[in-house]
Amino acid sequence: MALPSHHAGFCASCYLEFFARQVERGIRGQGLLTREDRVLVALSGGKDSLALALELTRQNYQITGLFIDLAIPGSSDLARGLVERFCARHGIALLVQDMAREGLAIPLVRARLRRPVCSACGKIKRYWFNRTALEGEYTALATGHNLDDEIARLTSNTLRWDQAYLSDQGPLLEGEEGFARKVKPLWRLSEFETANYAFLMGIEHHYAPCPYGKGASFTTYKHLWQQLEENMPGRKLDFYQGFLERGRPVFARQEAADGTALAPCGRCGYPTSSAICGVCRIKEAVHG
Ligand code: AMP
Ligand code: FES
Ligand code: ZN
Repeated sequence: MALPSHHAGFCASCYLEFFARQVERGIRGQGLLTREDRVLVALSGGKDSLALALELTRQNYQITGLFIDLAIPGSSDLARGLVERFCARHGIALLVQDMAREGLAIPLVRARLRRPVCSACGKIKRYWFNRTALEGEYTALATGHNLDDEIARLTSNTLRWDQAYLSDQGPLLEGEEGFARKVKPLWRLSEFETANYAFLMGIEHHYAPCPYGKGASFTTYKHLWQQLEENMPGRKLDFYQGFLERGRPVFARQEAADGTALAPCGRCGYPTSSAICGVCRIKEAVHG
């Protein structure tokens, strides 16, 4: 297997070692986790989050899985079965949050909301990641975002010069009052590299895209970067690391100077910049 960005070719066992080393460097380089952390890993049933959970287990981190069941017919049930089988096979404890029970089944939200459901769905997922991590006293919440996800998001944020997003994009978001610490240990690995790992480790994963989405997010930026990376191997990781070292601190200083204050949501008590948080507003729109 050839990896031009690392000027290297690998056999299967050396590849697994390479992958493990990249995860380790990603964790140590950014101070993401220690072996004392109780890590809640958000598992979607996709290859990235499953690969992440497996590699963290192999590296002796203490992890628990979290699946958010969005009640999307033909998709959530499949993903849930897959995540349950994966966790049983690898001895990983699993928590499931059922959005139908919370009155937030995505088909219902979609039918009542007059705007595209994806951003509401993202809000709901992030809210439950945070809430489950805090309630269970986990010291970190990990997601399976890879380098391609991160670079595409960075490009999108940069093209809009979105100071608020640029100030806290990265593999580590420190915890604060009402917010769990968030980490993305796969930030040094591309989608292709994670897919290879999943394949070599025999991870069964979920292909069915969400029936409500326009397809994967940031596809245009991902294609652009693929072309760039072909002509300039290693550019993606360099650009992202450069942002972390020299870009993000500047945006973060500026954002701290003009920062918005957070206060507890009037309904659920989780922090928000308005009187009622985004998820409680969605509930209100859905149930009146
Ligand atoms: P996505 O936004 O679908 O690209 O997912 C990004 C990351 O969020 C995944 O790698 C998972 O860690 C997490 N994730 C997405 N959907 C779910 C879900 N339904 N349950 C738990 N975690 C999820
Ligand atoms: Fe949330 Fe499709 S997974 S809208
Ligand atoms: Zn609320």
